[in-house]
Amino acid sequence: MRHSILMLSLAVALAAGCQREATPAADTTAPPAAAATQAVDANADEHSYSEPDKVKTSDLALDLAIDFANKQLAGTATYTLEWLDPGATQLVLDTRDLTIEKIEGAGKDGQWSPLKYTLAENDKILGSKLTIDVPERSTTVRVTYKTSPDASGLQWLTPEMTEGKQGPFMFSQSQQIHARSWVPLQDTPRVRFTYSAHVTAPKDAMVLMSADNDPKAARDGDYSFKMPQKIPSYLLAIAAGDLVFEPISERAGVWAEPTMAKKAAAEFADTEKMIQTTEQLYGPYRWDRYDILVLPPSFPYGGMENPRLTFATPTVIVGDKSLVSLIAHELAHSWSGNLVTFSSAKDAWLNEGFTSYVENRIVEAVYGKELADMENVIERDELKSEFTEDNKALQALAVKPGVLKDPDENLSSTVYTKGAWFLQFLEQRFGRDVFDPFLKEYFDHFAFQSIPTATFVEYAKANLLAKHPGKVSDAEFDAWIYEPGVPATAPQTLSQRFSIVNAARIAWVGSAQLPAPAITSKWGTQEWVHFIEGMPETLTHEQLAQLDAAYHFTGTSNGEIAQRWYPLAVRSGYAEANEAIAAFLQRVGRRKLIIPIYKELVKTPEGLQFAQDVFAKAKPGYHPITTGSVEATIAEAQKPVATKPQ
Ligand code: BES
Ligand code: ZN
Repeated sequence: MRHSILMLSLAVALAAGCQREATPAADTTAPPAAAATQAVDANADEHSYSEPDKVKTSDLALDLAIDFANKQLAGTATYTLEWLDPGATQLVLDTRDLTIEKIEGAGKDGQWSPLKYTLAENDKILGSKLTIDVPERSTTVRVTYKTSPDASGLQWLTPEMTEGKQGPFMFSQSQQIHARSWVPLQDTPRVRFTYSAHVTAPKDAMVLMSADNDPKAARDGDYSFKMPQKIPSYLLAIAAGDLVFEPISERAGVWAEPTMAKKAAAEFADTEKMIQTTEQLYGPYRWDRYDILVLPPSFPYGGMENPRLTFATPTVIVGDKSLVSLIAHELAHSWSGNLVTFSSAKDAWLNEGFTSYVENRIVEAVYGKELADMENVIERDELKSEFTEDNKALQALAVKPGVLKDPDENLSSTVYTKGAWFLQFLEQRFGRDVFDPFLKEYFDHFAFQSIPTATFVEYAKANLLAKHPGKVSDAEFDAWIYEPGVPATAPQTLSQRFSIVNAARIAWVGSAQLPAPAITSKWGTQEWVHFIEGMPETLTHEQLAQLDAAYHFTGTSNGEIAQRWYPLAVRSGYAEANEAIAAFLQRVGRRKLIIPIYKELVKTPEGLQFAQDVFAKAKPGYHPITTGSVEATIAEAQKPVATKPQ
């Protein structure tokens, strides 16, 4: 399922930025938002200071030590550079909250010599521009650095914050522009590089990266990794903790804390089937292994498509495989995103829209059309509530330069749901026999490249529209890409199973008569979600208590249900749920599940107080990204209401 993950982080970088002031001498020549104002080229990346047209990183070699006690990564990053502009003698890197110790360049003789550099003042969204003078245009440059304990792209957990409570845990989340908080680099998807890493850690911690993890690796505190395919920086990932491996198939498996591993492998047992389904549709899986790392519940997202090692929230492990479309989604990114990559956050739909479309195709093939339809309806309903008069600029698939201030602020209904809907429209008009091979060729044609929306538009017009005339006009196509809202050409989906749910809800609201257990016993997560979502704005205490007595929504272990039930309970003043709400908000850090609850709470003074109290307790366990979102939600509620001048 897709949701407001992008919108939620509106003020994350803002909040995170406040903690970071200690930056060395400012580079006064460049105003902090220079990258944004320079972006005259519609295809440029406004969210990176790096100048990849001048010099490009082709390989990154990391040598890092994980220090749990100091919540720090320390070591070196060595870049192999391709100098493109003959006049260029500077390498510009993105950084955020890094302590730079020294920078050296390798001479022709292989000897290292120091290079001069300036670290600009911190910009709250973009971080600090690191400008390195490389007068000899060395092809190898090395930065010695360490991270800050509150690096926005890392979370450090104490043993108590893990499932097994045996040892500490750490993990990265680099997308959108957080890689720069743990590695100085050209943090733009326009630059693709291979990487290798040597990482040391305490002996009992297993270290994994978005690279060639070995299921049989010995835990000896010393790890080496290689990622031979070129990836963009946002796919750089690392995790360390008490992790064990559980196989699913020859090439797929699960890494998790020991108490979770078997359960996770059972939930994700269909992963191999999903890989084969996607291969049949879109060509071979090109990344060797596909493993899933199950993170602690504080992981701020549902999933992250780190190559060869999807990072996943444990909240989708509900025992009945009903939420494994998340795996279909992250796996789909192995084609849409990791293979063919957007070239800037403005083009997020090229990653997420395509992936949501492919996800739905995988769900349909593996679990059937009924489930795929229900998921479509849930997402489109959400789109309808998310699209307002105020956010029109973010409703076009192609976002105009300068509109996206924070790259995490792209409207999720646009990039996920409208993006997928557009491809469903094309599929319907051209038919699968034409559209499937078209997409397969698209993935092949642009494999290992990063492209803007304009490149897709040009490719589709030449290879789909022009080759099959009379199916879709340029104007119909362009309306999806450049206009706000959802075009009238959008295909509609009717879910049979939801018709039953709707009837059951309407009957209950009218007569207090609950649906027969013979009906509800067949309901899965999606039906329950739809049942709750269609409820009137508020319910009476009696009604809520009746539902609770029958279905035990309060205290549910299913986060998707909690995400819908608790806001309804809060809106309706149902205090019986408070204890369970507090427990849920302290256990789970996945923003999509908890922010809707915080948002509902902060609407009343008592609710705001409750939210602040719970947040104070939960905060030490939250990821910096989640903390930023909750703080922004609370701050928004505290803003004085603007009064109209008399
Ligand atoms: N790549 C995204 C996560 C992401 C997007 C992180 C933008 C940071 C910025 C990932 O593939 C994703 O979409 N995750 C979703 C789950 C999915 C089933 C819609 C999530 O985390 O909720
Ligand atoms: Zn995604």
